[in-house]
Amino acid sequence: MLMITGATGALGKLVTARLAGRDDVVIGTRTPGPGGRRVDFDDPSSLDFTGVDTLLVISAGAAEDDVVAARHEAVITAAEKAGVGHLVYTSLSGDGDHLTYALAHRWTERRLRRSTLNWTVLRNGLYAEFLAAVAAPGPDGTIAAPLGDGRLAAVAREDLADVAVRVATNPAPHAGRTYELVGEEPLGGPDLARALGGHYEPDTLAATREAITTAGQALPFQVPMLLSTYSAIAGGFLDGTGVENNKLRELLGRAPRSALKVYSETVGN
Ligand SMILES: NC(=O)c1ccc[n+]([C@@H]2O[C@H](COP(=O)([O-])OP(=O)(O)OC[C@H]3O[C@@H](n4cnc5c(N)ncnc54)[C@H](OP(=O)(O)O)[C@@H]3O)[C@@H](O)[C@H]2O)c1
Repeated sequence: MLMITGATGALGKLVTARLAGRDDVVIGTRTPGPGGRRVDFDDPSSLDFTGVDTLLVISAGAAEDDVVAARHEAVITAAEKAGVGHLVYTSLSGDGDHLTYALAHRWTERRLRRSTLNWTVLRNGLYAEFLAAVAAPGPDGTIAAPLGDGRLAAVAREDLADVAVRVATNPAPHAGRTYELVGEEPLGGPDLARALGGHYEPDTLAATREAITTAGQALPFQVPMLLSTYSAIAGGFLDGTGVENNKLRELLGRAPRSALKVYSETVGN
């Protein structure tokens, strides 16, 4: 049996859609429908992985580090106890170490390496859809995201779902492997503006921090998350050149989708 966690999320939905109709696949979610199992990393009593051969753990990273680490500790411990055959974890690309949210991913990778499980780590790059959320144009068409002269090796979420399905449905050849999965087409502010027929006039980090805080939509821990994302892109850390051995194309078995197209389509929706 293959169980997928985080199945109602954006990545999880793409993964489960690709596995629809398979009777050996079980959806593990906090809000299970018929045939699904309740899986809430915040409630260890819900973590029953009896009969699970492969567990695809989609990270539950939208929280403070201590909460994310506790969630992932709980899920790995439960998988060890249940004798899960292989755990596949969606992590963050190696060039993302300057991002505030890298810590919880690296913590989880270390915990996996010390576990009794067979494991595979999918080090996902930042989504093109995420770029569309954090570098969308304003009403006048100006992109003000503080990306500086930096670029992001963004990757289509659909491509990461394809790789996750490929690995999770035949995990044995991938045991003990950590795969870097970043885009091949790094995108900067001018590229995004050109694609949309707009302008790129980056704000400062201070102005962006104030705008995010004033808008009041970000939780306190999300403000440094967003600022560190801009800062790391502007600093040139996320353009893909620092990633050794990008496995995206090989594990897809084809060329990656165009991140710029995904950005443009997502912004347009
Ligand atoms: N690479 C990137 O650009 C990027 C961007 C944003 C986030 N991420 C990371 O990648 C993950 C997947 O991305 P996404 O776009 O699918 O995020 P998403 O749409 O926010 O989905 C995250 C899923 O995490 C699950 N979750 C949250 N708290 C949980 C808990 N206590 N126990 C079990 N599951 C829990 C939820 O699944 P259920 O409701 O089904 O339980 C939720 O739907 C995120 O959680 C985050 O860690 C990556």
